[in-house]
Amino acid sequence: MNDSPFPIPDAARPRHIAIIMDGNGRWAKARHRPRSLGHRAGARAANLCIDACLDAGIPALTLFAFSRENWQRPDEEVGALMQLFLRALDREVDELNRRGVRLRFIGERDAFSPDIRERMARGEALTLRNTRLHLTIAADYSGRWDLVQAARTLARQVAGGSLSPEAIDEARLGAALALSDLPEPDLFIRSGGDMRISNFLLWQVAYCELYFTDTLWPDFDATELRRALDAFAQRERRFGRTSEQLAMEASP
Ligand code: IPE
Ligand code: IPE
Ligand code: MG
Repeated sequence: MNDSPFPIPDAARPRHIAIIMDGNGRWAKARHRPRSLGHRAGARAANLCIDACLDAGIPALTLFAFSRENWQRPDEEVGALMQLFLRALDREVDELNRRGVRLRFIGERDAFSPDIRERMARGEALTLRNTRLHLTIAADYSGRWDLVQAARTLARQVAGGSLSPEAIDEARLGAALALSDLPEPDLFIRSGGDMRISNFLLWQVAYCELYFTDTLWPDFDATELRRALDAFAQRERRFGRTSEQLAMEASP
């Protein structure tokens, strides 16, 4: 246990939570408000979730903020999301730094405007030495894109003669993917009721515990996170083995 206001036995605490923050649009629609208002409320919920993870002593959190497929949304919505992204970077980075959060981004950066890219780089540089919570924001990210990047990296090494094709194994490929320097995500949460991965982390979720909630993302709070953590604590993670084998290993 730790002495946080959110005590969890160490063995039952995820080392890395990944979240698809879904349901902003429906949250706004239910209030007869524009989708952009839902995204603003979603950004507030993301802040609450970061706080709750800090309180719970979670070492790594990865949030899906914008997928590569999300560029296909109406121009007005994409524009509002970019504005929100810019404002959030201006407003939140210093506070994240103060709280000991290391901030990083995964995804293809080139499509973002120079001011967003510059603020991403500044946020990463400023928080580089923080270790309390590794916060990764997936923006213009997709799981297939990630795998393609990794394939390219390895192909370049093979072409350059520094890697033989036979040396490519799971460890090598995994190391070329995003998040490879963090513990593997072990709890994957999706809000908003849809039960799909939507091209988020594909390789990395191989043995992740999946948790789906109908709660729309703007309503996701510390109590919701607690529910997900409680569910995680109940799961038996067998990794291909049997319950009996696990019980044998646990008893001396
Ligand atoms: C998730 O909420 C936020 C982004 C994809 C940027 P949505 O905007 O997908 O909300 P719903 O699913 O339409 O309710
Ligand atoms: C996934 O949500 C992407 C983010 C939450 C950023 P979507 O709302 O875009 O997913 P689909 O398209 O409904 O599967
Ligand atoms: Mg959605």
